[in-house]
Order: sequence, then C-alpha cells, then structure tokens
Amino acid sequence: MISTKKNQPSEDVSNVADSSTSSDTSLPTTLDLYRIFNDTGDISSNSRSIYNYLAETFPWEDWTLMNYGFLNKNTDMKKINVTNINHNTASYYSILLYAAVVDDIVLQNLDVLEVGCGRGGGCAWISRTLMPHSILGVDYSESGIELCQKIHSHIPNLRFEQGNAEHLSCLNDSFDVVINVESSHCYPSMERFLSEVYRVLKPGGYFLWADFRDSGQENVVLEQFKTSGLEIIEQVDITENVVLALHKTREDRLNFLKQLPKEHQEKFEEWLDNPSLKNNYAFYWRYKCKKALVPLLCCA
Ligand SMILES: C[S@@+](CC[C@H](N)C(=O)[O-])C[C@H]1O[C@@H](n2cnc3c(N)ncnc32)[C@H](O)[C@@H]1O
Repeated sequence: MISTKKNQPSEDVSNVADSSTSSDTSLPTTLDLYRIFNDTGDISSNSRSIYNYLAETFPWEDWTLMNYGFLNKNTDMKKINVTNINHNTASYYSILLYAAVVDDIVLQNLDVLEVGCGRGGGCAWISRTLMPHSILGVDYSESGIELCQKIHSHIPNLRFEQGNAEHLSCLNDSFDVVINVESSHCYPSMERFLSEVYRVLKPGGYFLWADFRDSGQENVVLEQFKTSGLEIIEQVDITENVVLALHKTREDRLNFLKQLPKEHQEKFEEWLDNPSLKNNYAFYWRYKCKKALVPLLCCA
C-alpha cells in the first residue's frame, strides 16, 4: 500500500516564501538552473560541466555535501541519530536529508549503492554511522569522483566509481539498497535510471530516493515510479522541509558565491538558492520503494 503524506515542518514556513507567486514565469525551470556554462538543452552535459568545475576549482576536503538540505524537528530524525555533525554548518542539514531518505531502513551489514554521490559526504556518513557491509558511490562527474577517492580514501568499506545513472556498470541483483539524493533531476531519462535501479537491486532490496521537479510534473513522477516494477512503500512531499533548510543555510551559500568569478555569480546564485522551490514553482519528494521477491505481475 502506498502511504502519501506531507512532512510537517517544525517551524512556520508561511513567512519564508519569496514575494513572487507560483505563476511567476520569471522563475527558472530546472533546465534553466543548469545553463551556467553551456546554454544547451542537454541537462546531462550541462550538469557535468558544473560539477567538474566545482570539484576542480574548490577541492576543499571539508566540503563533501551538495544537496539543499532538510529540516524537521518532529519526525524522521528520531529514527536515525544524527551525531558528530556541527549543527551550525550547511552539512548538518544535508546529512539530515540523507537521514530522512534512509528513514527506518536498517543498512547494517548490507551492500549499498549511491548513484549521484557528488563529493561523497553522504556515502561517508552512511559508512561511518549506519555500518553497511559495503558502499559504492557512483557519479557522472569524473573530477567529483577523483575528489571522493582522495577525500574518503581512509574509509575501508567505501569505494567510488565514475559512471552514468542510466547505464550502470554494476551486475544484476547485486545491491541490497540503492540511494539517490537530489541527482535524478539531471538525468535525461528517469525511466532508464529506474530500470537500472530495478536491475541492480537484489529481490527484496530497497530504493530510497529524494529530488525536486518543476511544478506540473507530479503525475509524470508518479507514473514513472508506478511503471518502474518497484513496489512503492511510501511517498512523502518534503518541499517545506527542504525550503526551511534552504533558509537556514542561505548565508553559507551567499558566502560561497563571493568566491566565484563575478560573471558566473548571478547564475550560480539561482542554482544554489533555487527560487522556484521557495515559491512553489517546484516540488521536492522522497520515495521509499522495494523490489519484490517475485516480480510484480502488473506495475501500471
Ligand atoms: C546536487 S548534487 C548531489 C550530490 C550528493 N547526492 C549530495 O547530496 O551531496 C547532484 C549530483 O548528481 C550527479 N549526476 C548528474 N547526472 C548524473 C548521471 N547521469 N549519473 C550519475 N550522477 C549524475 C552530479 O554529477 C552531482 O554530483
């Protein structure tokens, strides 16, 4: 059975929305956000240029997470104890997003794959805190992967590989859990990615996902999951939780912006701040899915 719910943020978000409305066409679409270096319709190569640039220009070892974050004092966080992270940094909220995505799934002794691992901070946190047997981080950005291999080389059960979410090099039925956090909006075909997730998951394995999409895409996303062959256990709208975290971390992001060349600052500001998400022009969901022990007869 699918449980659809909305997380209740612990703080009032009514006064943090910007003044523009959801019909404001000046707000950028997801594709617009990625037109920083290349002004093409190919989100995949646009995103690769951005993440390669960030890894090459800012190879800082203490910057390991790149998602918008999550904040919710009331519910999800009680399931996983988020320790050893400085509450005053943006990393704290980014780790909270991972904790919300993993939720009540116990990863201990399991083989975990993260697709779109970025700078590896999510994998490293899972490896240290949730004690999987092994974890593999895959990312399309080759410079990002080089950085991951350098920063996290001391973690024994963690490795990284360059790869494409739509064509994973992993064997069939090889992972207990696949995690995907704020990455799939960069994939030209969500359907191809979901079929790869289904292929590499062991029967009985879990797919844990969170990401944003432009408003109007709700039914598209629902249909993509429904036809993936995966059993949907839970679908939660976490937009307000992510927006709260965005407001908490705004100052950090503005400080980072100052380090970028002037000519790129305006576009990076939109990319970092996602005004569409803050103004209900985009939504952020998380899904918890399972690959059935025997294939589902009908997935439509
Ligand atoms: C917003 S970052 C999130 C990174 C990480 N999950 C985190 O939360 O810190 C999105 C990541 O998805 C990766 N990505 C984009 N397209 C990809 C693809 N086709 N296959 C694998 N990774 C991809 C990007 O290179 C980037 O590292």
